[in-house]
Amino acid sequence: MDPQTGQPPKKYFIHTFGCQMNEYDSGKMRDMLARASYLPAVSAEEADVVLLNTCSVRENPANKVFSMLGRLGELKREKPGMIIGVAGCVAQQEGKNILRRSPDVDLVFGTDNLFSLPEMLEQAGQGRRVARTGWGKKSKEKDFVPPQEALASLPDGPKGQVAIMKGCDNFCSFCIVPHTRGREVNRDLSAVVAEVEALVSRGAKEILLLGQNVNSYRAGGKNFVDLVYGVAEIPGLERLRYMSPHPKDFNLALAIAHRDIPQLCEQVHLPFQSGSDRILKAMQRRHTMAEYLEKVAMLRETVPGVQLSTDIIVGFPGEEPEDYAATLDVMRRVRFDHLFAFKYSPRPFTPAAKLEETVTHGQKGERLDGLLALHLEILAQIHQGMVGSVQEILVEGPHPKNPEDRLGRTRGNKSMTVVNCSAPAGALLRAEVTGVRQYSLIGKEVKPWT
Ligand code: 5AD
Ligand code: SF4
Repeated sequence: MDPQTGQPPKKYFIHTFGCQMNEYDSGKMRDMLARASYLPAVSAEEADVVLLNTCSVRENPANKVFSMLGRLGELKREKPGMIIGVAGCVAQQEGKNILRRSPDVDLVFGTDNLFSLPEMLEQAGQGRRVARTGWGKKSKEKDFVPPQEALASLPDGPKGQVAIMKGCDNFCSFCIVPHTRGREVNRDLSAVVAEVEALVSRGAKEILLLGQNVNSYRAGGKNFVDLVYGVAEIPGLERLRYMSPHPKDFNLALAIAHRDIPQLCEQVHLPFQSGSDRILKAMQRRHTMAEYLEKVAMLRETVPGVQLSTDIIVGFPGEEPEDYAATLDVMRRVRFDHLFAFKYSPRPFTPAAKLEETVTHGQKGERLDGLLALHLEILAQIHQGMVGSVQEILVEGPHPKNPEDRLGRTRGNKSMTVVNCSAPAGALLRAEVTGVRQYSLIGKEVKPWT
């Protein structure tokens, strides 16, 4: 029973679409709801409050929101008191339109209104329909996470994530993010450190620093490299990662930080989007392919064995077969460990949306398939080469299909099944790679956990 109302506690369900920043925001919503005495529900059917945290980076996930709202509307007719809320980038973009289009939605809030959730829920509970998509006070440096929320941060098992900034000033011509998350705003180093400390004190061993363009971070006279050194000093923090850096801002100092800071993992996600300078220019990416490859070479020289992942878009307007061939060529040269590849999707407000599409849907599909096939071929070779090597594994928990085994990740961020292992979540162990799957590794402990 809820001691204040004498009623059974209310339950919430959050469905998160899209990127890590949305995952972070959903975590904050969970923390706020827990403090307001809500319990998590296992499904929308069981919940009193259902929140969709939405993504509009491509058309597909944005459309999915409306089909999901249709299904939730049917559920609400069986459960009239239910509150349906839409958060995130589609909410920011569409605002009140969502209330007009979907009569069952009670609450719409944008990316800058996240921390008013308890207040908005109260209003919705009184039968009001609420839409808040205004931007907060404009400032390049600001703690957009209220300090009490930062200090209440909860990790997800042994892993936690902390936003160091929000928004983006890059305006890549295809990207809606600067419109849905606004201009870049950087948190103070001390605020980031306080949030990481809160997560570590609650059991986090690994922290992911988040931002749309992390290495352009600047606040209180500190840059991203200063921030990484500052965070790495926190006692009890075993592993540190960040996502995503922009190639134009990737420098030698950051590569040296990887070499010199034991906690900073040998793994970098460095999007290149296209292997063709002509397309990069049309994408307003502000780097050439030669510059990208030089930075990769510098990083590999400074941090031997560093594992790289990337984002690629196929079928940008004007992409000819030779541009696509250049993208494949970069993949052969860099040999990425992870690949996130997407079909170009025109987005509202973006300059690229005004360009005529020249690549058909079918061609985009073929190009995407080609990238994935090449990636898998390279990945199989990379994984074979790892057999027999010993990896440090951070255990995330029992394997969902076999509780005798453990699931964990290497420092390079590869998923590994450690067979016959009893180590608890959060343990760091050493495991020899004994087998490979398409996207993950199989291993056994070098010295069994006791
Ligand atoms: N179409 C396809 N992919 C896109 N991305 C961003 N905008 C678009 C778009 N309009 C991809 C980019 C980015 C990743 C997060 O999503 O590759 O790095
Ligand atoms: Fe979008 Fe480019 Fe900013 Fe990334 S760097 S969020 S792709 S505008």
